[in-house]
Amino acid sequence: MANAPYTEKVIEYFQNPKNVGEIEDPDGYAKEGSPACGDMVELFLKVDDDTHEIKDIKFKSYGCASNIATGSIITEMAMGSTIEEAKDISWQEAADELGGLPDLKTHCSVLAVDALREAIRNYEERQGIGEGKKETTVEVVKERLKHVMNPMTGVDVIQTDLIHDIEVEDGKISIKVDLEEDHQFASAVKEDIKEKLEPRWDVEEVVVKFVE
Ligand code: FES
Repeated sequence: MANAPYTEKVIEYFQNPKNVGEIEDPDGYAKEGSPACGDMVELFLKVDDDTHEIKDIKFKSYGCASNIATGSIITEMAMGSTIEEAKDISWQEAADELGGLPDLKTHCSVLAVDALREAIRNYEERQGIGEGKKETTVEVVKERLKHVMNPMTGVDVIQTDLIHDIEVEDGKISIKVDLEEDHQFASAVKEDIKEKLEPRWDVEEVVVKFVE
């Protein structure tokens, strides 16, 4: 089909994606959402703590064909590489590897690559190495919360002003969210915030409060 929007390789990877699934007790994990379309990807890593090689990698996509194909190709590219090498995999490389993607679909491969980078970041935060070595401050918390989606808009909770107060003291982070406790999305937002911050090596407790 000359005018088909997808290359044969995209279609093939979409129909037979590689490395789909979950890893129990992962060393690195990320759940990333796309502000452009509201879709989501989860990515799981097993990493060798001595060599920092990726021993296993799996993903779950709630996105479109481009996203599934990119998730498949980047997990193949990352498998067996070190986390430093995997950080350098770009959405452009992934798209080239797939024989190109329509412009409109760029964000889908960006989303898959972001999930990989965030899962590596999550590993580094648990280990207190690389980018994850930074001490947790209010600024760092804000930065990390840019990767938590506001489910009502599909844009992150910082940009949409959903977070009111952030306090960091002696390993305890307290966050106030501009939602009522019984709001339909309150528990999902709370869970996502905790998931993003609790693994940090210097964080002992994350308390999420809602408006009265
Ligand atoms: Fe949402 Fe592709 S349109 S991931």
